[in-house]
Amino acid sequence: MTKRSRSEPTGEDLLATRRKLPIWSARRALLREVAAAETLILTGETGSGKSTQVPQFLHAAGYTEAGAVGITQPRRVAAVSLARRVAAEQACPVGSLVGYAVRFDESFDRRPPKRGGTAIKFVTDGMLLREAASDPLLSAYSALIVDEAHERSLASDVVLALLKSAQARRRSANGGGAGPLKLVVMSATLEVDTFCAFFDGAPAVQVLGRSHPVEVLHAAEPCEDYLEAVVTTVLQIHQLEPAGDVLVFLTGEDDISAAAAAIEARARLLPATSPTLLPLPLYAALSPAAQMEALAPAPPNTRKALARARLLHTPAVLATNIAETSLTIEGVVYVAYHAARRVDSLLQLPISRAAALQRAGRAGRVSAGKCFRLYTERTFEARPPSCNALLQRPPATPSCNALPCRLARASVDDLEEATAPEVLRRSLSATVLSLLSLGVKDVLSFEFLTPPPADALAAALEASSSHCAPLTTAARSRRTAACSPGCRSSRSTAEPCSPRGAGVSLGRCSPCSACCALFHSPHSHREAADESRLRFRSPGGDTLTALHVVSAYDAASGGGKARGEGRRWAEANFLNWRTLETAVQVRTQLVATARRLGLGDGDGRVPDGVASAAQPLSSEESVELRRALAAAFFLQAAVRRPSGDYVTLVSRQTVSIHPSSALFSRRAPCVLYNELVFTTRLYMRDLTTIEAAWLAEVAPHFFKSGAAAAATGAAPSAGQPRMRIHGGGSFR
Ligand code: CDP
Repeated sequence: MTKRSRSEPTGEDLLATRRKLPIWSARRALLREVAAAETLILTGETGSGKSTQVPQFLHAAGYTEAGAVGITQPRRVAAVSLARRVAAEQACPVGSLVGYAVRFDESFDRRPPKRGGTAIKFVTDGMLLREAASDPLLSAYSALIVDEAHERSLASDVVLALLKSAQARRRSANGGGAGPLKLVVMSATLEVDTFCAFFDGAPAVQVLGRSHPVEVLHAAEPCEDYLEAVVTTVLQIHQLEPAGDVLVFLTGEDDISAAAAAIEARARLLPATSPTLLPLPLYAALSPAAQMEALAPAPPNTRKALARARLLHTPAVLATNIAETSLTIEGVVYVAYHAARRVDSLLQLPISRAAALQRAGRAGRVSAGKCFRLYTERTFEARPPSCNALLQRPPATPSCNALPCRLARASVDDLEEATAPEVLRRSLSATVLSLLSLGVKDVLSFEFLTPPPADALAAALEASSSHCAPLTTAARSRRTAACSPGCRSSRSTAEPCSPRGAGVSLGRCSPCSACCALFHSPHSHREAADESRLRFRSPGGDTLTALHVVSAYDAASGGGKARGEGRRWAEANFLNWRTLETAVQVRTQLVATARRLGLGDGDGRVPDGVASAAQPLSSEESVELRRALAAAFFLQAAVRRPSGDYVTLVSRQTVSIHPSSALFSRRAPCVLYNELVFTTRLYMRDLTTIEAAWLAEVAPHFFKSGAAAAATGAAPSAGQPRMRIHGGGSFR
């Protein structure tokens, strides 16, 4: 993480700020409630001080004498920034009394708090799951706070179920002397009843009051082109409103780049005397350092310079929903967003009312603010809220006639009350793998907050059995989960198809998972950037192309010894240097994990990723690597039809190759894809060419030979039955 120079507030300033937070005056009552109940559900408006203050209250009340107080966050950037803020409030360096642990980055003292270790620890939901894998009782903690529970991410739902079971075990004789585990489940707008019922009638309390008022304005008419509306609104805020930074929510990286370019171009047309407008992107694929950069204030040297910088530069942070919760972006006074949000695919859906309230709350964090909704008030209000006692509705607001929305058909449906839980929205494979790694034997009976559909769960179990077959022991799945950057690539790292495959996949393939954002293509140098892309293109597809780029980067940066050289090389080749650095870092960590777990070749050796990846791949290695990928991603195979389009082997969907793929103009007969995205049609992205025959070899329990031919419509030859899906059922 980079350190920014800034004028740090003093301890006294911070204490004064803390005292003004709505939760401060409720702290004694809150502590009484915590003492009386094993689990407490806490609601309160965004900015009331829940995330920063509740852990400090518990610490001050002595809970940390028996173990750390942990606070889970859905997003790593929030975990890190909250740890920094609370450390500042406690006047200690991050990593001492207050620390954090997020994937690939941690700063905390492992000793028990009463021996000087970290007492207040911010973690992502995913990190807590990992901790629970080795210590299901979570015995290092005396209390856990689950923040932003209303988001209902898969990881946080699973965390809640695990915490409930850890509480029960710690209550019983099996608790191993760990003592009781306090739990506080909190959020701004919450399905309180669901949580109270899940925790057997746990009490719920609400903190009233918001720190600063936010004026909410709606578009007078629906907007047809939301990007255009965003850009014009930002320009209007910049020209017409008093000083203050702008936070804009967009649906994804592409829209952010387009909006940034448009804002930059329009800002150039402003009179020379006009203050500068500075678009800053913020999305999850940015490196952690770049994310923190967007959150930091413009670097001031003195207070006077700060005032000047604020006057001269109005940062407009263009963010995805990463900034929806638990983030305080200093200086933000204006928030603008449309109702569109992006889901797992590139499909856009309306945000929920709960998310809209969260977004508006981003404007009132540090001072009074304004929220510009780029959709009509009718859209927001159309659905009567089902559980509105806790939702403080925004006051009746004037319509924002100055907004640039033309009269057009409504572009979004009326908003749902809350976003559906992730468990009902996406593939459950990752969850199943996590549960298995935690030793949950009967996944079908796992106590979910909202049980997923039984058939989706069964399909996920089947997929996991295919990945890890025969998956009978918790140890194997634990190993797979520990080693994998994501469920889908686990087998290429933890379950290589040959000893040599282990070397190839561990030393070479692992960084590829972080390489999807390698190339960038500035408008002004599009042709040169395209040429660079062509230079690296591998006939094996996008993953091998990414690998080729990382190998070349390793060579250019002397295996990490000459990072400056590496950076210059990356810039000259239109490559994202930060992404390359992240890829190398991820690889180093995966290699270390693999060594720790004793994975590797026949002699247990794991190649040093940096050294081995610096060499170009031989054709044998290319085959080995692609076979290893086939072993990992066989569920994501597609074959070309005589008509030229593709059909996915498992879901039998008609798909096309995404135009950004290295394989767009050379259509291999059989490919693996990393993801399916829907824009105008269903596209496969991040492709690798494979031989169709490998599928039956690497996953014989899943495919029978001839499957690919059958799927393309060609008649299967005698003795080659059509593909069938394995019945599973061996792991109840
Ligand atoms: O969790 P909740 O939304 O209720 O509030 P919080 O995150 O505890 O934030 C309370 C206040 O702390 C904010 O209004 C900010 O003034 C400040 N804060 C900050 O300056 N930097 C952070 N990273 C987090 C909070």
